[in-house]
Amino acid sequence: MSASVTLSSGRVCLRQWRDEDREPFAALNSDPRVMEFFRSCLSRSESDAMVDYIQKHFSEHGFGLWAVEIPSVAPFAGFAGLLVPQVSTHFTPCVEVGWRLAFEYWGHGYATEAARLALGQAFGAFALSEVVSYTSVLNQRSRAVMERLGMRHDPADDFDYPRIPEGHPLRRHVLYRLRPGGSER
Ligand SMILES: CC(C)(COP(=O)(O)OP(=O)(O)OC[C@H]1O[C@@H](n2cnc3c(N)ncnc32)[C@H](O)[C@@H]1OP(=O)(O)O)[C@@H](O)C(=O)NCCC(=O)NCCS
Repeated sequence: MSASVTLSSGRVCLRQWRDEDREPFAALNSDPRVMEFFRSCLSRSESDAMVDYIQKHFSEHGFGLWAVEIPSVAPFAGFAGLLVPQVSTHFTPCVEVGWRLAFEYWGHGYATEAARLALGQAFGAFALSEVVSYTSVLNQRSRAVMERLGMRHDPADDFDYPRIPEGHPLRRHVLYRLRPGGSER
């Protein structure tokens, strides 16, 4: 599949990034509510560097973290999609499904719906045998998305995120896994 293809569920649309997404993306990356389970908020230049990295990832892998559009509601609400993590740990190499939405778009089911579109591609066009997702043990909202998607958590997979220093409250992470046909809905 070409990276330029737009995926749509009717309510949610996954599309390629546009230059005008950079400003609202920087705004959500500077919101402490959105970044609660990351070590820090991002500056405008760090946020732009992340968009550059996402675009490079699309050219290398053919998939990535798509921009999320909510037609008639928000031209840009955040991202959702697939990522090959750069960290090295017991479950890598792998493909991760991930999401980040601006605070005002939480609580509508958009993240779960967007992730389902991405997983459809992962197990369809890209024929992956497994997709994982991980987050801080404390990130209940993200874990709830994983659970709604039918992803499975085995406590034996829990791990310390390599780039977070020992003793940091966000260091302990949970891993959820999903195989083709493993979704409950
Ligand atoms: C993680 C994150 C995307 C989850 O957002 P979310 O809004 O909780 O998740 P969803 O979009 O799936 O919405 C689910 C909620 O919408 C509600 N909802 C309302 N209308 C709905 C509808 N029409 N269909 C489905 N759900 C609906 C659900 O009941 C659920 O509410 P609840 O959380 O009170 O149970 C969001 O918290 C976020 O961006 N966090 C910051 C970034 C982050 O931590 N990312 C993960 C790092 S690994």
